[in-house]
Amino acid sequence: MQDKTLIMHQHQPLSFAPEALSGISARTTEIHHGKLYAGYVTKRNEVESAMAELDKASANQIFSAWRGLKEGETFAANGMILHEVFFAILGGSGDATGTAVAAKITEQWGSFESFVTEFTATAMAARGWAILAYDPSDMKLHIFAADAQNQGGVWGATPLVPCDVYEHAYFIDFGSDRKAYIAAFLQNVNWQEVDRRFALVAR
Ligand SMILES: [Fe+2]
Repeated sequence: MQDKTLIMHQHQPLSFAPEALSGISARTTEIHHGKLYAGYVTKRNEVESAMAELDKASANQIFSAWRGLKEGETFAANGMILHEVFFAILGGSGDATGTAVAAKITEQWGSFESFVTEFTATAMAARGWAILAYDPSDMKLHIFAADAQNQGGVWGATPLVPCDVYEHAYFIDFGSDRKAYIAAFLQNVNWQEVDRRFALVAR
């Protein structure tokens, strides 16, 4: 029996006083951090516990309890992660002078002001989050717009075994029998290569 206390995610405390922010009230921060962010941590733990208990045999792409949990899993995980970064990078002065990231921003956008213009435009256009992110695949900064937290994988995660379940990946060979395709896919995984990639990112 797995010890579930080992997989529980913990609510991270604020690194600054709620009243320390300029223009953002203590009440806003207390509600945002103490209630909304905390809700994502609680729900992520709830989803992970529920997944451990649920019978997987009824999994279905149109509607199933397993699908509902999988939708909730990334929504809760990304909600937790994005809020933790959000709160972790607040509490400063807004001055990026002398930092390596500012140098990278200036290198890519031409000036810090141009970056601010694009970041602001993205935050205006997005329905959920505007996110400056570093992508190690191209070693560049990007400003992403996310309308929902579960638009894709978990931010910063390295995919190790991606299985394409679009119909183009299996319909010719297996018709509508996706389960047979998935079994075949798994039988073709090179786990030595997966293990080599895992060793590069695991810590
Ligand atoms: Fe939020």
